[in-house]
Amino acid sequence: MLRRGLRINHFSRRFSSTVKEIDYKLNGQDIPDDATVFSMVQPTGKFHLGNYLGATRAWKDLCDLKKDNQRLVFGVADLHAITIPKQDVTEFRLFREEALASILSMGVDPEKAIVMHQSHIPQHSQLHWILSTFTSMGYLNRMTQWKSKSNIHKNNVSEADLGSVKLGLFSYPVLQAADILLYKSTHVPVGDDQTQHLELTRSLALLFNRTYKTNYFPVPVTTLTPTKKILSLNNPEKKMSKSDPNQQGVIYVNDEPEQITVKINKALTDNISDRFYYDNENRPGVSNLINIVSGIQRKEIPEIEKDISNINNYRDFKKYVSEIIIEELRTPRKNFKRLMKEPDYLKSIVDSGNRRARAIAEKNINDIMKIMGLN
Ligand code: AMP
Ligand code: TRP
Repeated sequence: MLRRGLRINHFSRRFSSTVKEIDYKLNGQDIPDDATVFSMVQPTGKFHLGNYLGATRAWKDLCDLKKDNQRLVFGVADLHAITIPKQDVTEFRLFREEALASILSMGVDPEKAIVMHQSHIPQHSQLHWILSTFTSMGYLNRMTQWKSKSNIHKNNVSEADLGSVKLGLFSYPVLQAADILLYKSTHVPVGDDQTQHLELTRSLALLFNRTYKTNYFPVPVTTLTPTKKILSLNNPEKKMSKSDPNQQGVIYVNDEPEQITVKINKALTDNISDRFYYDNENRPGVSNLINIVSGIQRKEIPEIEKDISNINNYRDFKKYVSEIIIEELRTPRKNFKRLMKEPDYLKSIVDSGNRRARAIAEKNINDIMKIMGLN
């Protein structure tokens, strides 16, 4: 049986300077007193349990623990979202609003964190251009996301394959690096699927610093939670994702209790029906559910295994899991519903967040231009 705890300790020791595994509950010492923490989500629909446990619950924890000299910036990556085939404008507006309401519904406090829309801070695009002059096509070519989003599943990509791939999708990770570096961010809380983009960000920070003999950009640390990868309920080979054609595998933060129960009851498991324990290799479906419970309850896997050691049938196991998820999402669900009825409030929050973000971005881009002789 593969114990996740052992694997994580090994991993975090090797990469301690660039990738940091935080515990289930963030603790005051995890993030330095003068840190700038930055992260965003794409407005491609409502938040799901993966977004919540992988990233955004940590944003709330960071707000709760915020110290005076720390800066927290969380945003809606609407410029990234337009790299997918063009969508209905009304729906896109709704998705942006839902993303904002989702961030706030998690408990992110707009008094403590700047909450903004990427497209309203033009310096993101400006720095994107600057960084694109540092980024090699070879590096971008090796990255996986543009290939998977373009349905290309091989290493040697032909000209025909490239035919319809847009430059914006190819250069998506450079814009992400610009987002992060624009605020001179030191810590970036994200899920596992973003680690490749963060590696590029670090390379670009170092390359810029080396080129201009400066230490202007901090080298940002990726912060990952123990639940950095939540899997689809009905295909535990894939991560839980908004774009999954099979939506039964995705639990949304605002799903009603009955919907959650139905989805958990249909979750793909296995035929060992009298014992429930974590074994990611041989029992991925059951392990994913245990992982979700451990994330929600902020308890190590062995503790959860102890808690469920008396359960000896799937009906009870799934009831146990459903009830824990339903309870956890009760407040975000209520908040989300309320916030979606308060568009003026949402607008006032994001207007103020945009203003605060722009003030930082303007100063920093001026400094960057000065360093580069562009002033
Ligand atoms: P996205 O919805 O793709 O913009 O993702 C927003 C945040 O949630 C990012 O930090 C992702 O890494 C994280 N995330 C997305 N899906 C999952 C998942 N299935 N498990 C854990 N984290 C996830
Ligand atoms: N690419 C991220 C995602 O799909 C969203 C994102 C855009 C982001 N810019 C970022 C995350 C900067 C962290 C930091 O979830």
